[in-house]
Amino acid sequence: MLVLKNIAQIVTLGGGPAPRRGTEMAELGIIRNGSIIIRGEKVTWAGTAHDFPVRQPGAETRILDCIGLEIVAMPGFVDSHTHPVFGGTRVDEYEMRTRGKTYQEIAAAGGGIRESVRQLRRADLGSLIARAERYIRQFLEHGTTTIEAKSGYGLSTEDELKALRAIAALRIESKVEIVPTFLGAHAIPEEHQDSRQAYVEKLIREMIPRVAQEGLADFCDVFCDAGYFTVDESRAILQAARTAGLGLRIHAEELAHSGGAGLAAELGARSADHLEWVDEEDIRALRQSGTVATLLPGTAFNLGLTKYPPARKLIEAGVPVALATDFNPGSCFTPNMQLILSIACSQMKMTPAEAITAATINGAYSLGLSERLGSIEEGKQADIVLMDVADYREIPYYFGVNHCVTVIKKGQIVINRLERP
Ligand code: NIG
Ligand code: FE
Repeated sequence: MLVLKNIAQIVTLGGGPAPRRGTEMAELGIIRNGSIIIRGEKVTWAGTAHDFPVRQPGAETRILDCIGLEIVAMPGFVDSHTHPVFGGTRVDEYEMRTRGKTYQEIAAAGGGIRESVRQLRRADLGSLIARAERYIRQFLEHGTTTIEAKSGYGLSTEDELKALRAIAALRIESKVEIVPTFLGAHAIPEEHQDSRQAYVEKLIREMIPRVAQEGLADFCDVFCDAGYFTVDESRAILQAARTAGLGLRIHAEELAHSGGAGLAAELGARSADHLEWVDEEDIRALRQSGTVATLLPGTAFNLGLTKYPPARKLIEAGVPVALATDFNPGSCFTPNMQLILSIACSQMKMTPAEAITAATINGAYSLGLSERLGSIEEGKQADIVLMDVADYREIPYYFGVNHCVTVIKKGQIVINRLERP
């Protein structure tokens, strides 16, 4: 048994597995001066010190006592959109953007995703795993206990399988839980520049069936946007994915209003991600289909853009909103969800409470895992992080530092830096 005691605020997000919409997104279910009891992998009790049910802790009980400290406990972040397997950085492109080049100009000149494809094709499986392990450790250090991880820098059957096998190895070795997504439709590879239809066919007939058959992915994603896959191509790819038994996610409306959100709604995709360019009609359609809007405001921030997704409109329309990093070597190279909350609050005017909901229970729902993850409630998996702040609102407000001091994954303490003052 593990007992956490004298916690200034427990942000429970109690309320069951349903995604939070509208005003529900601001309801955190906070317990002040609280305690949590964990047995095995699960939370068995959370409440105030006053109601604590155990009189005499047994000899086998480990106690983490936060008395004298001011600590917030919250569910581990669920980062529902990342691209963590790649062969190298693109720091040159970062510098080019500081000198005025845009993301699209760099991609059109052969950089961008295609540069990452060249790097991944050169890399062997072991080096891909070793690099990603380092990043995944950093996710954990910053309080993320579950990530979704996409392939998408291979763009050939063999290289996409290599990326997915790297993810499969990381799933076994890593303390962070990882949900694998096949993103063979991330870009048209160089060798298919003049035969894009053949690549789409290959995705549908060869790659998706193989990935599904080998059990290497839970979801399939498509980059449906200007310069990448059209709505018709994306529809055909995602229908094949559905037939193969994969869940659906879409990179939609990031670079231009190109119809990806409408397609997500049409297909009942679990998540539509990015959404900088969604319009009112798209928002109504997403509301109807129950698709989660996964916002990735770190990309606009890092690319130096001023157009952020309309988070307020989405929330007010009743679309469940999630937040994720989009960790990748191009548009957003951070594993830090705390920073994403800061950007969401300052740039999209989400409240701190809405941002935390989006980064935990709603992210878990978008991965189909909210029965088990995303809140601190009796019966749920004990994925809990301790933040060295007295009030949860300080997590986005006091930005640029890592507040996470303790990480508990499946009931085990995997990081502990709690210090007495
Ligand atoms: O989510 N939008 C597509 N994919 C990534 C960018 C990937 C890259 O530049 O390597 C994104 O922003
Ligand atoms: Fe992405």
